[in-house]
Amino acid sequence: MRRSEWALFGLIFVYSFIPAFGGLIRVLELAGGPQIAPANPRALLAPTPIVLHIFSSFLFCIVGALQFLPSIRRQRPAAHRKVGRVIAIAGCVSALSGLWMTHFYVFPNALQGAPLYWVRLFLGTAMLGLIMWAVIAIRTRKIFRHSASMFRAYAIGQGASTQTVLGIAWIITVGSEAMGPLRDGLMIFAWVLNLLVAEILIRSMQRPAKRPHKAGLPGT
Ligand code: HEM
Repeated sequence: MRRSEWALFGLIFVYSFIPAFGGLIRVLELAGGPQIAPANPRALLAPTPIVLHIFSSFLFCIVGALQFLPSIRRQRPAAHRKVGRVIAIAGCVSALSGLWMTHFYVFPNALQGAPLYWVRLFLGTAMLGLIMWAVIAIRTRKIFRHSASMFRAYAIGQGASTQTVLGIAWIITVGSEAMGPLRDGLMIFAWVLNLLVAEILIRSMQRPAKRPHKAGLPGT
């Protein structure tokens, strides 16, 4: 694997670190360990969806990052296929458990107002649909459609990381945690940013690669 690819993987790993590994701390707590993360009474009342969500999201974000590295895709297509099946299932479980919690957990308005509720429902469903669309596309050898769908689904999943970064930046700048409509707005803005970046990357994949213009080569 090339250096630039390790760097890309390292960047995604660090970016996903807090939601991915922070989630594992919540699982430890639910298994009887100490409470390190901020209290979440919803998780204590109904631990099943959150535990499923944390494990599946961890796989989707961290192991899923490997799927975007060109050398693994090109040199080890069998590994890309095998890991891809696991990641597709993990992504669906992450989205489904996210939808489950969005609808059935009882949130105070400070943590989830109507805008966040509806956007979570919409994007959770979109993430599920995009993963299924990506699987259908690769089965019919539509490579670009497959990559673009997975990029978009990954951007929705990685919303959790951008939300964490924006939330921390807000605390540093303002001195207190964003709550209520402001929190809803920040969470939604994080998803908008991620989807914008995904669209830019997808557009750049569509552009033909520039080849060096060497004099004397046939056809140049
Ligand atoms: C795939 C990347 C994702 C990661 C890494 C992730 C991470 C997490 C973590 C660690 C928690 C537990 C928070 C806690 O312990 O208090 C959580 C909760 C939650 N997630 Fe995700 N998530 C992801 C995707 C999504 C998506 C796409 C949705 C929207 C459908 C979603 C909706 C939720 C909801 C509603 C909760 C419960 C929050 C609470 O009780 O306060 N997540 N997520």
